Amino acid sequence: MSKKVSLTGIKPTGQVHIGNYLGAIKQALQLSDQYDARYFIADYHALNIVKDKQEMSDSTYGVAATWMACGLDPSKVLLYRQSDVPETFELSTFLMGFTAKGLMNRAHAYKDKKQKNEDAGKDSDFGVNMGLYTYPVLMAADILLFNTDIVPVGKDQVQHVEITADIAGAINHCYNDELLTIPKPILNSSSEVVQGMDGRKMSKSYDNTIPLFMAPKKLRKLVMKIVTNSQEVEEVKDPETCNVFAIYKLFANEQEQEALKERYLAGGLGWGHAKQELFEMLEATFADKRERYDELMNDKSYLDKVLKEGAERAREISSATMNRLRKASGIGC
Ligand code: TRP
Repeated sequence: MSKKVSLTGIKPTGQVHIGNYLGAIKQALQLSDQYDARYFIADYHALNIVKDKQEMSDSTYGVAATWMACGLDPSKVLLYRQSDVPETFELSTFLMGFTAKGLMNRAHAYKDKKQKNEDAGKDSDFGVNMGLYTYPVLMAADILLFNTDIVPVGKDQVQHVEITADIAGAINHCYNDELLTIPKPILNSSSEVVQGMDGRKMSKSYDNTIPLFMAPKKLRKLVMKIVTNSQEVEEVKDPETCNVFAIYKLFANEQEQEALKERYLAGGLGWGHAKQELFEMLEATFADKRERYDELMNDKSYLDKVLKEGAERAREISSATMNRLRKASGIGC
């Protein structure tokens, strides 16, 4: 029996941080053991927000390089760019004919924005473009085009996968055939566990992140800024309430955790020392990956080649899906 398909879409926006790595990237990469795994860069989804040419281009390469540096092997799994698969946009238009407007009204990103506008006394559609309004349809096209069984996502994306399943069900029902695979969301389990520099959840919106591939000097400086209390060096410290230890724990094995814990409890460990331990742990975990990332970012022609090959393989699947739908619906034949 052939493997089931998992599909992950990554929006090329901003800098990837260690919370993204632990909460999403690592788990999504592990899926390739059990699933026929497909990964793509959702550049048209990013276009709703990213209007700067350089930023779009840099972030797109950045996503490809990040995932490859973290272990994605493009000869074993499929990696491609959404914009290189034109069937995405044909399917998106096809899906429009089966998508109730009310379903889009209830999609959370649009609904939240509308609510915020109304609360602020603005026109309810202020700042809403059609890309945001129809976001779930484009996402459904990404998913349905590739016969996806499971979609690993954060909490905020579950609704979008459910909408996708609804639309696919309506199409299968209409043509009385299993034309499209009905996808299921799989929740990224640890997406909430990683805490940031200030103890709140690590998130770009809190400005408390530790970027994944920061140069060592800058990284050390940043680690030294993690929020701690004002205890003196000689005082006994509580590892369980410490932001430095909380992040250390994510990367250390049990012995390493115990060893550092003992030093906290013995007194004589200053915050600078604890932060140095964390910095070294981060280096031990990410230095090789950062080196690979830098190498890849300095070799755009190689990244181009990887994405081009990925697009060719992706289009074999996407054109088959689109042909199936055209045939079933009498479009173009
Ligand atoms: N909307 C997803 C996010 O913001 C990105 C995405 C686009 C996606 N298309 C997808 C994720 C298809 C999974 C499947 O994170």
